[in-house]
Amino acid sequence: MKILVIGSKGQLGHELLIQGNNSGYEILPADLPDLDITDKTQVKHRLEKSQPSLVVNAAAYTNVDKAETEQNLAFAVNRDGPANLAEICALFKVPLIHISTDFVFDGKKNLLI
Ligand SMILES: NC(=O)c1ccc[n+]([C@@H]2O[C@H](COP(=O)([O-])OP(=O)(O)OC[C@H]3O[C@@H](n4cnc5c(N)ncnc54)[C@H](OP(=O)(O)O)[C@@H]3O)[C@@H](O)[C@H]2O)c1
Repeated sequence: MKILVIGSKGQLGHELLIQGNNSGYEILPADLPDLDITDKTQVKHRLEKSQPSLVVNAAAYTNVDKAETEQNLAFAVNRDGPANLAEICALFKVPLIHISTDFVFDGKKNLLI
């Protein structure tokens, strides 16, 4: 199974890379500057080229202290980036796993699904 791990140079992505390889999966790493999830065209080209069975998004803007002064970048990476991935994965019918954080969703909220 071919898995595209985006944000592969980060803490979580790097760990997913190691664990995935150790578990016998074919892990395709992707991160800045080669793949920018805020650029929908880049995302589309990467999926077309690599044809993964699954995409895992561990890419994120994680500098909490700077997020208020770099709002545009934070929203671009953490809101628009995952939206791009969702759209392109849906286009190619590839499942997407997006790793969030309990700072955003702690499992206690009532969701309308
Ligand atoms: N670490 C944990 O224990 C943990 C636990 C639960 C959930 N999470 C969630 O997992 C995600 C990643 O966390 P992390 O701790 O691994 O963060 P991190 O170490 O900051 O890694 C994020 C990675 O995403 C890359 N990135 C940033 N903007 C990008 C873009 N536009 N396109 C592609 N890649 C981009 C970063 O590259 P640059 O460094 O060059 O910006 C970095 O390599 C976050 O959503 C976090 O909330 C993490």
